[in-house]
Amino acid sequence: MAAHAGARKLGTELAALQAASGISVENPAMVRTISPAMSQQKNLLIFGDNLRWLKDASVFPDECVDLIYLDPPFNSQRGYNVLFKEVDGAPSASQIQAFDDTWQWDEDARDRLDDIEVSAPGHSAMFAYLVQMTVRLVQLHRVLRKTGSLYLHCDPTASHYLKVVLDAIFGTRSFKNEIIWQRTNVHSDSKTWSKVSDTIFFYTKSEKFTWNPQYGALAEEHVASKYRNKDGDGRQYQLSDMTSPNPRPNMMYEWKGHASPPNGWRYSRETMADLDKQGRIWYPDSKEKRPRLKRYLDEMPGTLLGNVWTDINPINSQAQERLGYPTQKPLALLQRILLASSNPGDVVLDPFCGCGTTIDAVETVNRESGGAKRRTWIGIDLTHLAISLIKNRLGRFTPPARFEVMGEPTDVRGAEFLARKDRYQFQYWALGLIGAVPWTGEKKKGADKGVDGVRYFRDERDAASKTMLVQVKSGHVKSGDIRDFHGTIDREKAVMGVFITLEEPTRDMRMEALDAGQYFSPGQQRNYPRIQILTIHELLNDPDGAPKPRCLAMPPTVAADTLKQAPAARSAAKAAEQGDFLE
Ligand SMILES: C[S@@+](CC[C@H](N)C(=O)[O-])C[C@H]1O[C@@H](n2cnc3c(N)ncnc32)[C@H](O)[C@@H]1O
Repeated sequence: MAAHAGARKLGTELAALQAASGISVENPAMVRTISPAMSQQKNLLIFGDNLRWLKDASVFPDECVDLIYLDPPFNSQRGYNVLFKEVDGAPSASQIQAFDDTWQWDEDARDRLDDIEVSAPGHSAMFAYLVQMTVRLVQLHRVLRKTGSLYLHCDPTASHYLKVVLDAIFGTRSFKNEIIWQRTNVHSDSKTWSKVSDTIFFYTKSEKFTWNPQYGALAEEHVASKYRNKDGDGRQYQLSDMTSPNPRPNMMYEWKGHASPPNGWRYSRETMADLDKQGRIWYPDSKEKRPRLKRYLDEMPGTLLGNVWTDINPINSQAQERLGYPTQKPLALLQRILLASSNPGDVVLDPFCGCGTTIDAVETVNRESGGAKRRTWIGIDLTHLAISLIKNRLGRFTPPARFEVMGEPTDVRGAEFLARKDRYQFQYWALGLIGAVPWTGEKKKGADKGVDGVRYFRDERDAASKTMLVQVKSGHVKSGDIRDFHGTIDREKAVMGVFITLEEPTRDMRMEALDAGQYFSPGQQRNYPRIQILTIHELLNDPDGAPKPRCLAMPPTVAADTLKQAPAARSAAKAAEQGDFLE
């Protein structure tokens, strides 16, 4: 109830929020330091809270981005209860970490509320969510170019509240569409109308915006009924009228024994001759009837798309592109948005980039469209897991995707700070340094002891992939750790292991690792250490960096016809086969 009251009040309070946050949406007099990365049109992968980064005008000056897609953490099945649960209610164990981090009533949310100087109409998570989203959307509006567009992906749990917020920030005239994406099929056990769709709001900053119409596949029935004719080579076509709808005296001529239609032909004699030469004119069996134009199915752009999208499947367990990130969106969805609302040379921002679908879409579209001008991307995420996954995901591109990482530890002190702050985030980050992904073997009961990550590789053509286990230590280390790790490698039938440590290893540890022996790679015909100890210092100073640092000794992956993905992407895909990372 309180949350509903909050949402009602919100619309009228937003102007106050804008004023109090010190950012006038209409005021262009913000600091205008052009960020070096921006001015050089570099792709940027940024770790951290997007609000902190967005507010930094040296990274994000005014009007520096052409397209924004945001998909804030939200789970439609649990979200409603989670968002409306009062703070003194029982905590929900099933919430994902990032959701917890961002949308709770903490000091930050309270400060924001003080900023807008409204009395909190009930401290529900929904209100916190809207407050936190509002400050971010104000910033996103600021960084968007005048010709830019913003797409906000959410679901019906909060879409109506978010639209009020967006209307207040962008203005109601800037609202262009509510896109309904059917993301699943009807559930037979639903007690109400099955909830099968997500909502994507499309706003532009002005009336002069980039727009490239998009087309979907033609319906099968349409193809079957209209394109019934086939050329000798199998090309399907339909026939269309070649007569002019209005009188055109200069187009009245006899064509190959066929008299001029009363209004003349649609085409000049020269164009007719050209069409005829290309075999595009169909001739009837009688001179009394009229020739017609062949329209080939393979030349049709498809059906012009509207705001209801039913033709893009969600990422299911069989999907090729599935990485195991629970909220991963389909590449096709992002490609559609990208192609419709951006052009080569544009900058695309995803401030909640997750496992990097938007980034992948930009890289893919750039490569498909060729040309010297490319789109540039910026992705921000709060978890090192996401940042590591994106690095791995980008590893599949050839030539490699070029990007700069910001906000990650760059030296041992930074790594120590991260380890103290959050052991798990440190672990995710460290795994990313060697292109490994989190170990999901814990589903096999009790089998996860001493394993934090894994990297799969295939060093023999047509042989099964092999496993390299990873253990990450941020605290004190001793030789017993290496002995235990050795046991784990044997138990899990892995061929190699990497022990990553923040602390320098002792001589005994090095000896213990040497005693573990070697792995002989049949593909490479050479030995590799069965256990390697790598320090964070070594990894950070490695000139190669993830996902194939020079200090990591492992066999290169053998290219096989059946293997379309690069090793890093396969690691993620293989991990995904075992289950989702965050489940
Ligand atoms: C729904 S997921 C996005 C999924 C993404 N569209 C994809 O296809 O992979 C939301 C992401 O936002 C991130 N996130 C949550 N709060 C954030 C914040 N304040 N700043 C940056 N990222 C945040 C989470 O870590 C999560 O990866």
